[in-house]
Amino acid sequence: MTRILPLGPGSELPTWVDALEQSCFAQVWGSMAEHELLWGCGEKGFARWSVYPSLGEAELLRIAVAPASRREGVGRALLRVSVKGLRELGIVEARLEVRVSNKAARTLYESEGWKVQGLRRAYYRDGEDAALYLIKL
Ligand SMILES: CC(C)(COP(=O)(O)OP(=O)(O)OC[C@H]1O[C@@H](n2cnc3c(N)ncnc32)[C@H](O)[C@@H]1OP(=O)(O)O)[C@@H](O)C(=O)NCCC(=O)NCCS
Repeated sequence: MTRILPLGPGSELPTWVDALEQSCFAQVWGSMAEHELLWGCGEKGFARWSVYPSLGEAELLRIAVAPASRREGVGRALLRVSVKGLRELGIVEARLEVRVSNKAARTLYESEGWKVQGLRRAYYRDGEDAALYLIKL
C-alpha cells in the first residue's frame, strides 16, 4: 500500500483531495483550518480530522476512498494510521458523525472499536439522521 502521509495546518490541499471530496460528498470542504490534520494515501483516499490536543479530543471530519480502491483496506489503514498519529499528539477521545444509512462507513468504524453514542435527528439537509460515534484512544 502507498505510504500514508500527514498534512498539517496551512498545507495546500492536493487537487485530488478536492476531486475525491466532490465525487464522494458532492461538496468540497475547502482549505485546512489551523486545528485540522489530514492523512492521505497516495491519491487513493484521505482522512481529515479536527484536532484539539489541549483538550485531548479530535473529530473525524471526513474519510473517503476512491471508488476504484475500495474494499482493499485503504479506509481501515487510514483510520489506523491517523488514530496512531492522534495518540502520539495526546488525543484520548475521538468522535464522528455519519449518516445512519452509510453501512460501509459504519461497519468500518464499528470493526475498529468505535461505539454508537446516540442519534442526531434530521441532522443532514435531506432529513437523514446522523449516528454519533465515540472511541477512547
Ligand atoms: C467508508 C469508506 C471510507 C471505506 O473505505 P474502504 O477502503 O473501502 O474500506 P476498507 O477496505 O478498509 O474496509 C474495511 C472494512 O469496512 C467494512 N466495509 C467497507 N466497505 C463496506 C461495504 N460496502 N459494505 C459493508 N461493509 C463495508 C468491512 O467490514 C471492511 O472489512 P472487510 O473488507 O475485511 O470486510 C469508503 O466506502 C468510502 O470512501 N465511502 C464514501 C465516503 C464516505 O461515506 N465516508 C464516510 C463518511 S465521512
